[in-house]
Amino acid sequence: MNIGIYGGSFDPVHNGHIAMIDSALKSGYIDCVIVIPSVRNSFKLYTNKLPPPYRFYMMKETVEGLGLKNCYVSDIEYDIEGVSYTSVVLAKLTSDSYIRDFLTANDVKRKKAEEQHEFYWIMGSDTLGTFETWYKPGEILNYVTLLAAVRPGDNTDVEKAKASIRKNHGGRVEIFRLNGVECSSSEITSSGDYTFVPEPAVEFIKRHALYTGNTMLSGVSEEARKLFFESSVWMYHYLGAKRLLHTLNVGYLSAHLAEVFGCDKDKALIAGALHDCAKELPLEKQLELAKKYTGELFTEKKLLHSPAGATFAGEEFGIEDKEILDAICYHTTGRGDMTLLEKIVYLADKIEPARNYTDLTPIRAAAEKDLESAMRMTAAAVRDKFVSQGRDIHPMTLMMMKDLGM
Ligand SMILES: [Fe+2]
Ligand SMILES: [Fe+2]
Repeated sequence: MNIGIYGGSFDPVHNGHIAMIDSALKSGYIDCVIVIPSVRNSFKLYTNKLPPPYRFYMMKETVEGLGLKNCYVSDIEYDIEGVSYTSVVLAKLTSDSYIRDFLTANDVKRKKAEEQHEFYWIMGSDTLGTFETWYKPGEILNYVTLLAAVRPGDNTDVEKAKASIRKNHGGRVEIFRLNGVECSSSEITSSGDYTFVPEPAVEFIKRHALYTGNTMLSGVSEEARKLFFESSVWMYHYLGAKRLLHTLNVGYLSAHLAEVFGCDKDKALIAGALHDCAKELPLEKQLELAKKYTGELFTEKKLLHSPAGATFAGEEFGIEDKEILDAICYHTTGRGDMTLLEKIVYLADKIEPARNYTDLTPIRAAAEKDLESAMRMTAAAVRDKFVSQGRDIHPMTLMMMKDLGM
């Protein structure tokens, strides 16, 4: 097969990206496109607005929602350590076993997936001009033909760029016509005008309340921001889409609540983001990790992931801060004498934007001004749920409720 590869930040994906995919598929050069939302792009290391998993799942939902045929989204960069240089990604992606497994996992017939493939790197004509400044351009050209889009009225001198690439690196460049609107992700997020964002992506952005004040992380240190991005890549390996996005949403909301109630924003961001990191580990593993943090304190299956998460975040991800680890440990039950950070993560977990188990409007409103009252409302809802299910409320939760005057 002839396979096009299209990498980018997609922060957010917009109609220009979709037009690129569409026009490339219609160009006659390629049979399918593999889209790769970046993880650690060398040009934009940690400067993307959103951590990688949001951009990955937004792209996936968009491709599925629009019903784009012969277009597959790849998470290949999650397994690459450090900067995801194009040459490194291509070495891996174009290897026989990787591409065969990837295509068959995306329902391409085995016989086709096992063919000898040709690869094309899809890019805009503007990027073609700077291609020779990329990391190891010669190596990239060993794996792919460059497939550059030229839009009507485009005055980039593609022939000059083409000749230079051929002369300096012996590489091949093909040109295709791009039909579509011109738009930019940064203009979309700064204007807040989502006209040129495909519907499934708009829906995704709304569901997770992305590109809002809370996700700008103002007042968060560079170090914490980096840790937040890295935690999302680390957890990608352990959590499914829904849970991963939930736990990251809790990070954003915790940082916001920390600002409202005068708590450490960095710690809130990290504790919130990591709070459910152990939730999809096998139960025996959760039990083992939980015991290391709290002994026999938690035995109920549903509660194990909280203390287990504290151990996991500590041992595997390297978090040493006890306040952060405690906030992870007690996020499900609460406890007596909770710290401000623990309260914030407890609450954010129950009301992050994607939560919709009940009408959360009153609690969300309360959470903007009165933490204790929002906590009481949440605890009351939890109590009602437990009573209706005939379950016992954990003694630690009872202690928290007592502190709240319930
Ligand atoms: Fe949890
Ligand atoms: Fe949670």
